[in-house]
Amino acid sequence: MKRRINHFIIIGSSRGLGSALVEVLLRNDSHHIFGVARTRFNEIKNYKNLCHSTRYHHIETDITSASCVETLKSITSKFSKGPIQVVFNAAVVESDITSDFTINFDTFDKVNSVGIRGLSNVLKAFEGYLFTYGGIFVGISSFSAFVPPVFDPRIAYPSSKAYLDMCLRCLRSIWNSDHISVVTVHLGHIGEKQAGSQSRSYSDTAEKLVKSLSGKKIPSEINYPRLYTLVYKYFLTSVPDFLYLKLFRMLRKSRIP
Ligand SMILES: NC(=O)c1ccc[n+]([C@@H]2O[C@H](COP(=O)([O-])OP(=O)(O)OC[C@H]3O[C@@H](n4cnc5c(N)ncnc54)[C@H](OP(=O)(O)O)[C@@H]3O)[C@@H](O)[C@H]2O)c1
Repeated sequence: MKRRINHFIIIGSSRGLGSALVEVLLRNDSHHIFGVARTRFNEIKNYKNLCHSTRYHHIETDITSASCVETLKSITSKFSKGPIQVVFNAAVVESDITSDFTINFDTFDKVNSVGIRGLSNVLKAFEGYLFTYGGIFVGISSFSAFVPPVFDPRIAYPSSKAYLDMCLRCLRSIWNSDHISVVTVHLGHIGEKQAGSQSRSYSDTAEKLVKSLSGKKIPSEINYPRLYTLVYKYFLTSVPDFLYLKLFRMLRKSRIP
């Protein structure tokens, strides 16, 4: 990327990783951040800090609604014809499997709607600007895109992340331009910073991502943390499905009283 990026759009910014990314990006005085979420500005996690900032702009919209495309497109008039960074971070992180191992279709549809329709709406809104002025499109995926989850069975969540992964790979070859980068981020468990917790914190993860995405060479993939990369990306994807599923069933049996 030849020109510095000063305009950032975080899709899914009201809490969790999105909110941490906003916080980290705002530390640089030349950055302007557009946070997108359904939650009202005065109800988002960092409201008390953000309401004093002239560099944070909150866009309250549901990315699954058809009207959001125009709302998101209208943001681009505020950019200075320079490159932008769009982070597709929104997701519904919920299980769509009931206690008797059938599908909860309400959750199934909700997860797919954000992960697939929401992604399509975001691309519709920003593709034109990215083509003209360049920038980075980042998709926040998960290691669960690689193999079916064992401990917390889900269908739509890992499937929508696998869809995101393939969508980004296709875009990388189709856009094939030296002024647009497409980055896939695979993350393991993350959560709020808590003493004694094994999960990476949202703020550590946000710092790691901002650092990796602000270097001279933009990576096409970021995998974090390293142990998950070794287990999910390199080991489990090489285990044949029949063996993996055998283990899955054994673990499931041991959990049913
Ligand atoms: N947490 C983990 O352990 C973990 C692990 C691997 C990957 N990831 C990925 O990392 C990303 C962030 O995870 P997280 O834990 O921070 O999730 P989170 O706390 O559930 O936050 C999700 C964000 O998406 C927004 N969102 C959801 N539906 C939306 C809609 N229809 N329109 C607009 N915004 C919407 C939410 O805002 P509103 O509700 O205000 O709309 C919220 O800001 C996700 O893509 C997730 O899949 C998370």
